Order: sequence, then structure tokens, then C-alpha cells
Amino acid sequence: MKIASTVKEVREIVKAWRAQGLSVGLVPTMGFLHEGHGSLISRAVQDNDRVVVSVFVNPTQFGPNEDLEAYPRDMNHDSAFCEKLGADLIFHPEPSEMYDPDFTTYVNMEELSKTLCGKSRPIHFRGVCTVCTKLFNIVKPDRAYFGQKDAQQLAIIRRMVRDLNMDLEIVGCPIVREEDGLAKSSRNTYLSEKEREAALVLSRSIFLAEKMIEEGETSAANVKSAMTELIEKEPLAQIDYVEAVDGVSMQPVDQIKAPTLIAIAVKIGKTRLIDNTIVEE
Ligand code: PAJ
Repeated sequence: MKIASTVKEVREIVKAWRAQGLSVGLVPTMGFLHEGHGSLISRAVQDNDRVVVSVFVNPTQFGPNEDLEAYPRDMNHDSAFCEKLGADLIFHPEPSEMYDPDFTTYVNMEELSKTLCGKSRPIHFRGVCTVCTKLFNIVKPDRAYFGQKDAQQLAIIRRMVRDLNMDLEIVGCPIVREEDGLAKSSRNTYLSEKEREAALVLSRSIFLAEKMIEEGETSAANVKSAMTELIEKEPLAQIDYVEAVDGVSMQPVDQIKAPTLIAIAVKIGKTRLIDNTIVEE
């Protein structure tokens, strides 16, 4: 497995693969890899002849008061992790390699990025769309892999690829959870022991929603209020949103039916965590 830090190196390596007729998968990440990322990498290794994992804490998707500086980083762990799973190349650029000092072109999505996380993180998805467009242009993969854990991100990337005729397939992969239910996240490392315990209200409220819907509940208001009630019982938890939206348009719905997305963002202490479930046919 190789590690490249420049766009030029990546292009040369991918060009050589292409000359041999090999297919290429891309897994975009911000590093500090865990089994959630691992599931994407394994799926990419299954589907493609060669796999590129990008490890880049993308400054343009962090707001001024967010955790850009504090975001955990561990390249030694990440490269061993990728190698073990069979990735062929890590792209790990410096911010200056990705953004010139006079960088000024952004990819912005209208409606889908205004709800859910877009409300409290107004520039987040502009940064995500911009960096993913750049990564797609640098690697030119046949397929790129994204987790359902970040459901709004996945929906936005799918729409961007469709709207802008980008020539690749987007593959969505299911949420990977800890044994007790907490969705795996690089940000879980911020949690103290007490907060880690409190963070279980997220998955518990998602499982509660799944149970209510399975038992026939179709009112979004009823599901949201039961979830809210459960989360509010946890003193360390502060709700950002508890929402039911259409799984494609990300706009709020009153009636739950496939593909409704039930999504939550909750602060546990200072750490903002997200979780969701999608209602299937
Ligand atoms: P990051 O948070 O590192 O996540 C990289 C990918 O791993 C995303 O597609 C995310 O949905 C997926 N992922 C994270 N935790 C997961 C879990 N528990 N189960 C399944 N998949 C999981 O998302 C980003 O980085 C960035 O926004 C990025 C797309 C790289 C652009 O900078």
C-alpha cells in the first residue's frame, strides 16, 4: 500500500492502474478510522480492482466555532488499518495541497442542505460537496463509498452527482454500531465515561422509533415526541433536532412511509452526535 500526499502522485498512480484496465473505488474519510470506515473500505475492496482511501480533515466543512483543530488524527493507526483491509493507496494531503490561498470556487447545494444538520451547520455541506467534487476529479473513481450514518451527506452527494452529471456510482453502506448500540464515530473519543453512557440515548431513541413504526405508527409527530421525551430524560443530553424527513428530498414529512428518514442530532456535553434510521418498504 502506498501513501501519497500530492494530487500529482495520485493522478500518476491511478493513470497506471487505468492503463492496465483496472477499476478504482474511492472511500473519502477524515481519518481516525474505525470499523464504520472499515465497512466502507471492505466493500470497496470487494467491488473494485484498486481502492483509494482519502484521509483529509477538510477545513471548509467546519464552522468557525467547530472542532477543526481538536478533530482526532492518527495516521500511523490509519495506514495500518487501511493496509490490513486491502486498500491500495491512501491520499493524505496537507490543506495547502487541496486549497490554494486564493481558492474561491465552491459547490453549493440548495434545498437538501437547508434542513437537519444544515440548520445548525450552515456552511458544512458546501464544504463537503466541494471537497468530494475535488476528490472525484483527482481520483476519477468508478465508485465512491459513503455511510448511511451521515444520511443527509449521502443524500446530498447522490443528488450532486446526478445534478452535475458526475461519472461515478455512489454506494451507500449501512450504519456500524458499537455492541451497546452507539453508532461508531471518530467523535466518540471526545466522550468521558459518563458521557459515553449518556450517549446511548441516541441509539435508544432510534430503536424506539423503529419499534413504533414496526408496530404501525405512521404519525411523524407521535414518533418525534416519544423520541424527544426519551432523550430529555438524560440530563447530559441537549437536542439539536429530532426530525422525520423524506429520504430523498430531506424535507419534513407528517406521515411516515418509505423512504422516510428519522434523524437526530444531540449534544452530549460539548460533543454533537448524530444517528438515524430509514424506513423501508
Ligand atoms: P468521516 O466522518 O471520516 O466519515 C467518512 C465516511 O465514513 C462517511 O461516508 C461516513 O458516513 C462513514 N461512516 C462514519 N461512521 C460510520 C458508521 N458508524 N457506520 C457506517 N459508516 C460510517 O464524512 C466524512 O468523514 C466527511 O464529511 C467526508 C465525506 C470525508 C468529506 O470530508
